Amino acid sequence: MKTQIIYYSKYGSAKEIAFRIKEKLNADVISDIAELNSINGDLLIIGSSIYSESPDKKILDLLLDEENLLKDKKIALFVVCLAKEERTVREMKIGGPVYLRKMETALKQKPVAAQIFGGRLIPDLLSQEDYKRQEAFYKMRRLTFNAVDMVSSDEIDEFVLKLKDLQ
Ligand SMILES: Cc1cc2nc3c(=O)[nH]c(=O)nc-3n(C[C@H](O)[C@H](O)[C@H](O)COP(=O)(O)O)c2cc1C
Repeated sequence: MKTQIIYYSKYGSAKEIAFRIKEKLNADVISDIAELNSINGDLLIIGSSIYSESPDKKILDLLLDEENLLKDKKIALFVVCLAKEERTVREMKIGGPVYLRKMETALKQKPVAAQIFGGRLIPDLLSQEDYKRQEAFYKMRRLTFNAVDMVSSDEIDEFVLKLKDLQ
């Protein structure tokens, strides 16, 4: 069985997680969604980092538009974010489970596994626009805008364990 990982990452943490999954699973193919040529795995592991409360549009479009191609495959999903827990902010539900549900809804079939990974945010690496947006967000919540690193080997191992039996 062929295993393919498809990911979206803007600043590299989802990419790093995708490559660590690839290594541990001995996956056959890894594809950045921006450079995706073909979907040819039997087990597809599809993941996205989260921006403005959503997985990447190209990832969601892939899940939505390739229904026919995906329906005979095993699909595992993951998101990489900082708000891992679900909570309600000004009557809006946010957090990891909400982001995963967006992917699951687009997929229209039950994933064989799903995981919420903690991500990483380094203010100095952000584009000017992203920096300003995040700075304003932290200010609004009266939080200090510092670097955060929540990438965890344990979370990667937990996901890999779920997937090993499926390969
Ligand atoms: C402009 C901006 C918006 C973000 N929006 C969210 C969000 O809505 N929810 C969340 O949990 N994390 C959010 N994050 C945090 C990212 O999901 C986190 O830093 C992730 O690890 C980035 O992945 P990447 O390095 O692969 O791009 C945001 C980060 C930035 C810079």
